[in-house]
Amino acid sequence: MTETTINQGLEGVVVAETKLSMVDGERGELVIVGYPVAELALNATFEETVGLLWSAAGMPPLSFTGRDVPANVIQILRDHPTLDLLTAVQAVLPLVASSPGEILANIPTIVAASWRLRHGREPIAPDERLGHAANYLYMLSGQVPSPERVRALETYLNTVIDHGLNASTFTARVITSTGSDLVSAIVGAIGALKGPLHGGAPGPALDMVFEIGDASRAEGYLRRKIESGEKLMGFGHRVYKVRDPRADVLAAAAARLLHDDPLYALAKNVELTALRLLEEYKPGRRLQTNVEFYTALLLHGLGLEVPLFTPTFALSRAAGWIAHCFEQRARNRIMRPQSVYVGPVRNLATTSP
Ligand SMILES: CC(C)(COP(=O)(O)OP(=O)(O)OC[C@H]1O[C@@H](n2cnc3c(N)ncnc32)[C@H](O)[C@@H]1OP(=O)(O)O)[C@@H](O)C(=O)NCCC(=O)NCCS
Repeated sequence: MTETTINQGLEGVVVAETKLSMVDGERGELVIVGYPVAELALNATFEETVGLLWSAAGMPPLSFTGRDVPANVIQILRDHPTLDLLTAVQAVLPLVASSPGEILANIPTIVAASWRLRHGREPIAPDERLGHAANYLYMLSGQVPSPERVRALETYLNTVIDHGLNASTFTARVITSTGSDLVSAIVGAIGALKGPLHGGAPGPALDMVFEIGDASRAEGYLRRKIESGEKLMGFGHRVYKVRDPRADVLAAAAARLLHDDPLYALAKNVELTALRLLEEYKPGRRLQTNVEFYTALLLHGLGLEVPLFTPTFALSRAAGWIAHCFEQRARNRIMRPQSVYVGPVRNLATTSP
């Protein structure tokens, strides 16, 4: 019998060509539709970035009409106030959206309405005069945000919009490869994004900084975590073996937003201590700061609470998922890897089922 190599985690397996983004893990580079991430993140509006991405995927131009979610759908959210925010999106998105523009327009409305309802507040209707990022902050708080806050959120949204064949994007492509519909691919991708090893990391990363509370406690706390076998959230990456370029973009944006808030200095200290200890305990694994560590600080600086972190990630990454679905459709072959059966082979005549 020939020996089969099992590629756990599909590491290094290439299953698609893409014009959307290029991740170079050895050089620490991320290029989105031809632009270095820092350039695009700091200068483009979110709408412009989506436009570039969707045009690269051969899609029609972006139109953000229909941010309003109908009252009967809001009622479903009202009836289930304890659903986590992304489960709420998964539950109702297929009721209100099927086209790319509808999906992108409705996710923030569902997130903001669910968030307000779970805090006993009425949802705020979208303001079609505001840009995508500004409208999201407005629907959460009821305040039209300052240009600085909008810029900070757009920098974040642009930074995380697409990132090669990460787990959620791959999920979207797998679902699309079966001929299934767009919104099913997005609902599936949200399921993959939620996990703490993917998009669920920034909440725990911020909790960790808060629990440490003071730089003098960082080393002891982090040693205990690593020694008990826990992963430090916000560190390590399957592809990046040097610093994640998105971490620098977001660290600079967080520094601008937090000004001289001692939290920023504490987070810097925690980061440096974590990197030193990861090198000590896991030599040669090349564990570096990833995007989630500074995502947490930036979103906190914007006044968003932890349960909003992953949903905010999703409302940007959805644009990337959609573009990948179109690329997949344009050159499709159903995704169908294999497994090796390692269970017993029984005979019904001699064993009872
Ligand atoms: C991102 C992540 C899932 C990548 O996983 P992966 O490519 O499968 O990496 P591995 O699990 O093979 O890690 C290699 C080694 O480094 C260790 N390691 C990886 N990330 C670590 C972390 N954040 N903290 C402590 N140790 C870590 C692993 O335990 C493993 O150690 P071992 O060789 O002694 O078994 C992983 O680094 C992680 O869980 N990070 C924390 C969660 C996070 O921040 N996710 C957001 C990613 S953008």
